Amino acid sequence: MENDWQTILSLGAEGGSITLLGKEQHSGEWVFKKAVNEMNFDDLEDESFQPTKSTEKVCTLKSPISNRGNEATSWEKAIKLLDHYPWPMLNPREVHPAFRKRVWSALQKEVKGKYGDRINSYRLKKWSSLCLPEYSPKVDTLSKWLQNSTHTTILTGAGMSTESNIPDFRSKEGWWNNIDPRTVATTDALRDDYDLFHEFYSMRINGLKQCKPNIGHDILADWEQKGLIQAIATQNVDGFHTLAGSKNIYELHGSIHKFRCGNCAMSAEEEDFLSESNCKYCGGKLRPGVVLFGEMLPEESWRDSLTHIQKSDLVIVIGTSLEVYPASQLPKMTNGKTVYINAEVDTTHHNFDLMIEGKAGEILKLVDELV
Ligand code: OAD
Repeated sequence: MENDWQTILSLGAEGGSITLLGKEQHSGEWVFKKAVNEMNFDDLEDESFQPTKSTEKVCTLKSPISNRGNEATSWEKAIKLLDHYPWPMLNPREVHPAFRKRVWSALQKEVKGKYGDRINSYRLKKWSSLCLPEYSPKVDTLSKWLQNSTHTTILTGAGMSTESNIPDFRSKEGWWNNIDPRTVATTDALRDDYDLFHEFYSMRINGLKQCKPNIGHDILADWEQKGLIQAIATQNVDGFHTLAGSKNIYELHGSIHKFRCGNCAMSAEEEDFLSESNCKYCGGKLRPGVVLFGEMLPEESWRDSLTHIQKSDLVIVIGTSLEVYPASQLPKMTNGKTVYINAEVDTTHHNFDLMIEGKAGEILKLVDELV
């Protein structure tokens, strides 16, 4: 029956609309079709579409038409029904609640592809408020704070890099849910069970070679260049902020890309560590330059992070459980506003001016669209 069809996505342009309709079957599967009304959208075919003054001309009302396209039996095919139109650039009016995420990711694909810089921030804001209504007001607030702040410091943890396929430590798939940190990440482990210590860090070093910085790292690097942020204090040892192009980085837990002798502290090369060679100066065992439990943080990184945090009027904490002292104390040491972006937010445990639950890359992308 006709009224079984529900609006999945409704798009408007001057004098007309395109609607993607969907009908849920008894099996739970959906079928889709498109309805195009009151305008000759053929003139808007995407390849020729340019957001110039002539747009107004091609959008003028022609003879009203009501055209039902073919039915599609999967979401991928449904989106293809819209391929004929520059749909990301039209005015989004309604998105079905059950399809918000799917519409958003279809839009992201288009934005990454041909529409990129042709979609203005007003239009993107409209899309995000319809597709991700839970984020919209918070993302708005954060973008305003970021633009008004004169000194912003970012504090990142392992959650910043999970979208690069690097496990964090305390999530279900995290390192410390599979390996007891006392056996691999302590000075005792280095001294008493070097084989296991070596195996663990070799695995992490080799694992990193398959990964690269994600969109979140890229956005932070871009914000630094634009003067929106002044420093990144990170608990991560992966070096991905540097790889993404950030400059003012303070590595609180050291770097997995630097090596030294565990005995005389002379520096060494990665290949010497990986091949389990001994120190060429004293014969001692080699280790990566990460901070192990029981060791002090690098003094300079800590001091400089603290200086930045103290003079910040905005501190954004991203992807860290804040379980590890003393980095966990940094957000408390500012008089500025504090923001927490994390995949899981426990409001009883953390106290921030603004908390946004979600993936770092996804949230930073939404904010980035508004700044
Ligand atoms: P944790 O594993 O303790 O916390 C990572 C947090 O990031 C968790 O709360 C996740 O829910 C969240 N998360 C995961 N993926 C995310 C995503 N895509 N977007 C946003 N949040 C996400 O890692 P850290 O807090 O960094 O130290 O751990 C601190 C220190 O503990 C590490 O530097 C390491 C570890 O032991 C040493 O090894 C000295």
